[in-house]
Amino acid sequence: MLSFVPFSPFQFWLPTRILFGEGLLQQAGALIAEHVPGKRIFLVTDPGIVMAGLVDDVLASLHRAHYETDIFQQVAPNPKDVDCELGAEQVRSFQPDLILAIGGGSVIDSAKAIALLHTHPGRIQDYEGRGKVAGPVTPLVAIPTTAGTGSEVTRSSVITDTGRKCKMTVKDVKLAPLLALVDPETTYSLPAPLTAATGMDAFVHAIEAYTCKLANPISDAFALAAMARIWRALPAAVHEGGNRLARQEMMLGSLMAGIAFSHADVAAVHCMAEALGGRYDTPHGVANSIFLPVVTAFNAQADPERHAHAARVCQLPVEGLSSAEASAVLVEALFARAREIGIPRFADLPYVRREDFPSLAAVSYANGSTPSNCRPITENDYLTLFEEAYAGAARA
Ligand SMILES: [Fe+2]
Repeated sequence: MLSFVPFSPFQFWLPTRILFGEGLLQQAGALIAEHVPGKRIFLVTDPGIVMAGLVDDVLASLHRAHYETDIFQQVAPNPKDVDCELGAEQVRSFQPDLILAIGGGSVIDSAKAIALLHTHPGRIQDYEGRGKVAGPVTPLVAIPTTAGTGSEVTRSSVITDTGRKCKMTVKDVKLAPLLALVDPETTYSLPAPLTAATGMDAFVHAIEAYTCKLANPISDAFALAAMARIWRALPAAVHEGGNRLARQEMMLGSLMAGIAFSHADVAAVHCMAEALGGRYDTPHGVANSIFLPVVTAFNAQADPERHAHAARVCQLPVEGLSSAEASAVLVEALFARAREIGIPRFADLPYVRREDFPSLAAVSYANGSTPSNCRPITENDYLTLFEEAYAGAARA
């Protein structure tokens, strides 16, 4: 007899128009003019993207389309509240119709914060949480240059509060970009360590969206497709950076994972990764990859079926195994994958101090995504997971 799994009522709304394909970067001006009204564009980016020459290409394209432009290029990794305030000052004096983000997650998240502060008073801290944005924000166009963040299609901005040394999330559908120009060519020259870290971030978006409490049938479809693509393509993208098909798969996987978690949520892996990044500035994808195996082992006890299905989707050798056994195979594969693509071990991060673990556990527990974790999780559980991740670093 067929069995069906019930699901709760849900909403699905993707306000972002997505254009995907090689060569879009060079056509940015014409494409933006075709899809979004406006004459004055404020570019948000970082020094690495400028050095890579991507900004020059976009600026030339914008000027061909007769846009007036100004540029803010001071975004740092794990973007900071103070930088967003600097950007907000500059955007208020330029008064653009549109904001264009060219970069990875840090750049796109900063651009969302700057777009918000352009039309709303106060500091970014005033809007922390869900649905706190009262009115419209300046329209945003995003050109992602990593296959990781998915921020080009999400409604969240994660910003480091430098005063509290922690990350905060502003989540509101008004922050979602109106247009995403997703051009895999922008990632062709991304160095292997960045490809690995950002790619694992995308994988964690997919698996957390699939296993968290807020998953729904449509987010599941995106999460499963993203997991399959990313798991298969990531080693090739890391080890053969010029592999165009692998880069294309990663860009699409990252985009789909972004849609998935934006409509579901992330969970305990991100809660721990954001605590670590807020404290030590650890690259977000590195932190996610470090915590993923131990959190997966913890969560699989609550939902072995979904974790076993994730193992099957990744084409791990689990045929004939029970769900619990398949979940264990998944955990081992996650440890092995991190080593294979050169993610550093937790215990090898020279700045990490075990005496910080209790406060990191407290910050993780306070994260707004803690209630979304599929297994109820306490502050003490987080502490145990930090210790396990530290000890587990020596196992593979
Ligand atoms: Fe993430």
